[in-house]
Amino acid sequence: MVQVVLPNDANPLGFILGGTVMHLIDIAGAIACHRHTRSLLVTAAVDDLQFLHSIKVGDLIILKSRVTCVFTTSLEVQVDVFSEETLTGIRQQTSRAYLTFVAIDREGKRHPVTPLIVETEEERKVCDEAHARRALRLRRKSEI
Ligand SMILES: CC(C)(COP(=O)(O)OP(=O)(O)OC[C@H]1O[C@@H](n2cnc3c(N)ncnc32)[C@H](O)[C@@H]1OP(=O)(O)O)[C@@H](O)C(=O)NCCC(=O)NCCS
Repeated sequence: MVQVVLPNDANPLGFILGGTVMHLIDIAGAIACHRHTRSLLVTAAVDDLQFLHSIKVGDLIILKSRVTCVFTTSLEVQVDVFSEETLTGIRQQTSRAYLTFVAIDREGKRHPVTPLIVETEEERKVCDEAHARRALRLRRKSEI
């Protein structure tokens, strides 16, 4: 997803609002998951989020999302966020987010998600790491 940062998205310093970035992360993550599952989804969790650099009005915000692993009724997606200066093309990564979505039907009942084909060594590693993050997330949830 690519979007230009407009004044309406920004704080008084001329930088995109954190909440706006979070909204776009949710949308970009949901799109990848919808395209994988072709199902209705709800956001179950968003892991902790860092903002490494600000993105100023007039710059582009670029979001790249990728399903990392499918569990049973849930799946994890990674969203990388970049800024790109329109005039120079200089690109910087500003955030990386992991979100979990749960597949539901129209009655709100959870249902299994289509498995993810994991073929390469890199894809296997990414999925193993997703399993570890999931365990941590569920432990944190149980502490709430
Ligand atoms: C997300 C939600 C469906 C989970 O319901 P639940 O009854 O706790 O679900 P279960 O414990 O049966 O878990 C269902 C799946 O979700 C996963 N899950 C539930 N809570 C999770 C969490 N906080 N983080 C990661 N995964 C989670 C479980 O691991 C399970 O996955 P699996 O089937 O792949 O093993 C429910 O809490 C909900 O509807 N939340 C509100 C969602 C929403 O409105 N989001 C918009 C923003 S608020």
